Amino acid sequence: RDEPLVLGIETSCDETGIGIVRGHTLLADALASSVDQHARFGGVVPEVASRAHLEALVPTMQRALDEAGVTLADVDAIAVTSGPGLAGALLVGVAAAKGYALAAEKPVYGVNHLAAHVAVDTLEHGPLPEPAVAMLVSGGHSSLLLVDDLTAGVTPLGATIDDAAGEAFDKVARLLGLGFPGGPIIDRSARDGDPGSIAFPRGLTAPKDQAEHRFDFSFSGLKTAVARWVEARERAGEPVPVADVSASFQEAVCDVLTAKAIDACLSNGVRTLVIGGGVAANSRLRVLAEERAARHGIAVRVPRPQLCTDNGAMVAALGSHLVAAGVAPSRLDLPADSAMGL
Ligand code: KG4
Ligand code: ZN
Repeated sequence: RDEPLVLGIETSCDETGIGIVRGHTLLADALASSVDQHARFGGVVPEVASRAHLEALVPTMQRALDEAGVTLADVDAIAVTSGPGLAGALLVGVAAAKGYALAAEKPVYGVNHLAAHVAVDTLEHGPLPEPAVAMLVSGGHSSLLLVDDLTAGVTPLGATIDDAAGEAFDKVARLLGLGFPGGPIIDRSARDGDPGSIAFPRGLTAPKDQAEHRFDFSFSGLKTAVARWVEARERAGEPVPVADVSASFQEAVCDVLTAKAIDACLSNGVRTLVIGGGVAANSRLRVLAEERAARHGIAVRVPRPQLCTDNGAMVAALGSHLVAAGVAPSRLDLPADSAMGL
């Protein structure tokens, strides 16, 4: 077959991911995670993540190649996340990509992690209608992006001015004593709670924020409001209704995210909203986004949960798109750029 076979390497945070795609077809998606090693710290420890990547990379590579039934010699190009992310973690993936590229004489593509979160959707739903609006909500980012052309890059419309959405889930789970990572746990806990029971604040939605922060997010005030609410309960010697707090907090996050995403689509004349990043796995976010988008004739595309969180397939998907578009590969001295912009 003449579609390119592309291998993607992801090591920007705590997941070592190797994905292999042919065109838009996913052939392998191998993952190793150091999440358990970070759990007792309540967040990802960069040094621990880097060492875990170094240990996991080669075995994960082997698993991916086996899963796809190919060898490195069959691969047409290697794509790797070169930023943004944890510097030490990125270095492991970038160094590995260069090593494999050099040894097997393959072109290497350094790709943007956020653009890769958008591109992964093509593996599930085919080519992305452009322009589209993408909302990326993970532990490190909460951004609204305008995707005019995935090859040329994406334009930021807005982003969080403090905590990322996933970070807010993690911090609230921590203060409720629920464990890490908080997103999936709160998602589950919220199912038994009433989302309307506590009125938590919706950051940057006041009329005065429309001018400067229309497409920006703020979750730090929400997290503080939850902390205050829980403290007041504890001080009064009353039990904390964990499910109601989870549901009300989750509703506040999802309400703001979906309202701003739809507003971004409408104001840019866009009919497609892609949601990616770990928080896109949130069950309430998916339902609310669908509901609100449908009212405006906007189609929502959300990849399945395993493709929403960090993985190698997303990097391979973007790499495949770049190869097909005839984009020149990166130089072999390609750096890791932890603060890479879009
Ligand atoms: O994309 P991702 O795997 O890694 C980053 O690039 O950050 O996202 C991880 C984040 C964590 O903060 C986690 O709590 C959150 O995604 N998350 C969720 C859910 N599943 C994962 N947040 C809300 N609901 C979920 N079901
Ligand atoms: Zn990510």
